[in-house]
Amino acid sequence: MKVRVLGSAAGGGLPQWNCGCRNCLAVRRGDPRIRARTEESVAISTDGERWFVLNAAPEIRAQIESFPPLQPREARHSPIEAIFLTNGDLDHCLGLLSLRESQRLSVYATESVRRGFVDDNVLYRTLERFPGQVTWRALVPDERVALRNADGDDSGLTVLPVAVPGKLPVHLERLHAETPGDNVGLSIRDENTGRTLAYFPGVASATASVKRALADADCVFFDGTFWSNDELVILGLGTKRAVDMAHWPLGGSDGSLRLLAEIPRARRVLIHVNNTNPILYEDSDEARFVRESGVEIAWDGMEFEV
Ligand code: MLT
Ligand code: MN
Ligand code: ZN
Repeated sequence: MKVRVLGSAAGGGLPQWNCGCRNCLAVRRGDPRIRARTEESVAISTDGERWFVLNAAPEIRAQIESFPPLQPREARHSPIEAIFLTNGDLDHCLGLLSLRESQRLSVYATESVRRGFVDDNVLYRTLERFPGQVTWRALVPDERVALRNADGDDSGLTVLPVAVPGKLPVHLERLHAETPGDNVGLSIRDENTGRTLAYFPGVASATASVKRALADADCVFFDGTFWSNDELVILGLGTKRAVDMAHWPLGGSDGSLRLLAEIPRARRVLIHVNNTNPILYEDSDEARFVRESGVEIAWDGMEFEV
């Protein structure tokens, strides 16, 4: 399975438009020890021709232009066979609205994520320009499904959606009731090679099924949003702690790096990294600690084979 990181940052990207934190300033002044990043999205393919995109970031147009295999091969065409949504956060869904130019789209999502995006959303009408513009394919936690190409053929990949502890997107808070399908991780298996990619960009805490999915994987993308629980508070950038935003911090004795240390066999890559996170600055103690733990930090353009 070929893997290409299209975007590696959490919501806001790096630099974030209204942020003057140390990392955002360092990127703006061209410091070589930190890279600019767009919001989280990963493309995968078994043949290099047909691609599946995990999450639709606001920057999806630029991400497609940054990676020729995602570009059209005919006058009207897209090699993107389907798009997955792991939750309803706008950093994962907003990109769908950018793909409105009358191309058929196939979107895999749970029923609660689909409803959260479609219901009462007048902007969704832009993806209803012709009947069948979007085909929604259901993800149900704990039910493995065969992934289909846009033409309906079997892709050779299967996916097991795993419910993860999380929260509703900000715009649906107090509007919808919480359900287990609100946040999922994806365990994606290439049935020809048996290789498995676990995609878990938002995880509030580990459950038995999350641990099982990680233990079974050859490669894990994991929530790298925050280093510490009070990162935004200490920097004077907000009042919400990582736990309030349903992101498990990496550092400390009860941090998620401890869990990742338990699965040394897998290639472990942190993604959805917030622009305030000190691991993004290559010379920081935190970045060094991550590297010494054998864990990688995703960057836009990172490519490898699973
Ligand atoms: C998150 O990852 O917690 C959300 O993207 C935050 C947000 O929507 O601002
Ligand atoms: Mn996010
Ligand atoms: Zn910043």
